[in-house]
Parts: sequence; structure tokens; C-alpha cells
Amino acid sequence: MRSWSSFCFAVAAGALILRSASAACEKPSQDIACMFQEPIEAAAGSYNSLTHQVAYCKMQGYDTVSRASSEGPSVFTSGLVKIGVGLAHNQFGSAADPSWLNLPEGAATCGMCLEVTKVSNMPAIADDLITWDYDRNMTVPFLAMVFDQCTDEICDQSGYLDFDVYSETQPVKKGNPRLMEWRAVDCPVGETHKLEYLVCTPGTCNADDPRSVPNFGAIFNPDFFAVFVRNHRLPVIKVEMEDPDTIAGVPSFRDMPFTSGLGWTWSGKTFQMDEAKDIKIRVTAADGQIVTERFTKSQFLDSPGAPAYRGGLLLHGQKQFSPSKFSASKQLMANMKEDTEAQSNKYVSLRGSMIDGEGKEKSGDA
Ligand SMILES: *[C@@H]1O[C@H](CO)[C@@H](O)[C@H](O)[C@H]1NC(C)=O
Repeated sequence: MRSWSSFCFAVAAGALILRSASAACEKPSQDIACMFQEPIEAAAGSYNSLTHQVAYCKMQGYDTVSRASSEGPSVFTSGLVKIGVGLAHNQFGSAADPSWLNLPEGAATCGMCLEVTKVSNMPAIADDLITWDYDRNMTVPFLAMVFDQCTDEICDQSGYLDFDVYSETQPVKKGNPRLMEWRAVDCPVGETHKLEYLVCTPGTCNADDPRSVPNFGAIFNPDFFAVFVRNHRLPVIKVEMEDPDTIAGVPSFRDMPFTSGLGWTWSGKTFQMDEAKDIKIRVTAADGQIVTERFTKSQFLDSPGAPAYRGGLLLHGQKQFSPSKFSASKQLMANMKEDTEAQSNKYVSLRGSMIDGEGKEKSGDA
């Protein structure tokens, strides 16, 4: 495990403790639906030099020194998502506090998109994520994607965001970002942005594994492997694969529990591939949508390992989630969004009405 401490820079934010308007999105009652519905305020954020590492969510390859070299999800490399972030453990969860959905460390937020609607003291960062301009402010709103958990003590503040830049120096000449507001949103996936899967097995996906794996099948261990889902419109809360070793016609998907540091993990049974059968991965989004993706045995075993992921298998799927059922309430929130005290009181009562049956209908099955 790498240490994050050296990367989370914090300017003493002493006086800047905001009253949080987002108590319902904090532990222990935190959940993804809440982050989609309720703007979260944070007093401060910071920057992380995310070069030559994959970060917790493995959304980028080891050799990353710029957006272009990241081999990240296409919705990120295309620039539709502006920047990666490490998320506060109040929202991400932590090892000490196994979070919602029975996922360790809140990993369901990996790849979730955040719309940052307010930030001050943040210079305009160029699209390469290497350079910035202190004479211009970062324009809001912009989209960020959860690449990482931020486990530093400073990240204990609700809503804290640790922005990823690909430079050893960080844009802190005038201090760290302050007074942020954000909420979770659907990632802006278009027609061409389909789900992606990074498959790792012993001997791949670690910094010290060989970069070159001529075909994944040469090292694939059918007793133990893990999958990370990427480029998803919505947070993923469950991953299953069909057990090929089942009676024809009887679908038998096997749950792959999330294992911290590994991903959604297959273990305890040999994954016996059958030439005649497609390999099926079934993915469930936080709003309940389910998609099933099919790959051939040959795609698994004959594809080269991706050098940036040290031989991990990067599969490009053909499916994507539909717009989330959280959207209706998100729109409601957007209409309500004003940063005055008066508005925030109004907001509290709106939230109250969403919790009862009447509000539920408007907001969808969130
Ligand atoms: C940037 O934002 C600060 C604080 O809101 C403001 O004082 C400053 O004038 C802005 N700079 C530019 C170039 O817009």
C-alpha cells in the first residue's frame, strides 16, 4: 500500500470549518443515492501528484504522467471528465469502518463522477493536468472522477476532494482549494463510451510485474482473478460472472466480492472455460440497473496484457448503463441550488418531502 500522506497537501484551514449541510451523506448513513441528491459542502481540498501509480481504483495505468498517457477510461481520456480525485473517507468509507453496501472501503464510488459546482482558490488547470494558470480561476462546474480514496487525516472532513495532477509540483502558490460544493452525477458517457473491464490475476497489475505479457492466457489463474469495472455511467455495486461449470441452460452467476486492493474477486472455485460458451460478466449499478456483457474465451486467453497495467487484461465491452434513476431528483436539486441561508433552509424542507412517499414519486426509485 502506498502512503498518501506525502501527497495530500493541506493549508491550515483552521477557521474554515463549514457547517455541513450534508449530514445525511456522512457515515454511518452515507450512501450513493444521497450523494446524487444532496450537494455536499467541503471547507477545503488539496492536490495529489498522481504520477506513475494506478491509485486505489485502478482507473489509470502505472506510467501516467499526463491525461494522454493515462490509459484511463475513455470518458476521462477524452476530456469529458476534467480531473481525477481522491474522495474523503467520510464518503468513500475506510477500512476501519466497513461502509454501506457491505463493500470494504466504499469502493463502489470508484469511477463515480462528481460535479464540482463551487470552488474557490483553485487556479485554472490545463487539460493535460500538468500545467495551470494562477491568473485564471478554475471554471465551475467541472466534472471529476473518483480515482482514489484519500485516507489522510485531513480527508476526514466530509466532502474533502484531493485533486489529481500529473506534476510533482502542485498549484498551491496561493494555497489549497477551499469552499467546495459537489454532488454525484451520471458520468457523461456518449454512444462510444462503453463499459471497460480490467482483469488482473497473480503476476499482473502490480507495479513490479512484467509490462509485457504476450497473451493473458499464459498467466491467467482460473482459481484467482479480479475485475475492475471502468467507464461506467453509474457507480457499480455488484459484479458477478457466470460460472462456466454449470448445466447447459441453467444460468448460474457467481458473486465476486470486492476485495480491497484487488477488485471484484473470483476465488474458491476453478473458472473452467468452455470453448462453446461465452464468458459472461453481470454488473449491477447503484440504482439497480443490470447489464450482462459477453466475451469469448479467446478474448480472455489470447489477448495481450496491457503494458500500462503490467499485463492486466483490458477488455472493451459493448454495454453501458442508461441514465440513472437519480436524475429526476438531481434536476430538482439543480433548480433549487442557491447558496444563501434562506435557500438552504428551503432545501432542508425539500429534502424532507423527498423522504416521504410524495417526494419519492418525483425523485424516482433512488
Ligand atoms: C478568482 O477568484 C477570486 C475569489 O473569488 C477573485 O477575487 C478573483 O478576482 C478571481 N480572479 C479572476 C481572474 O477572475
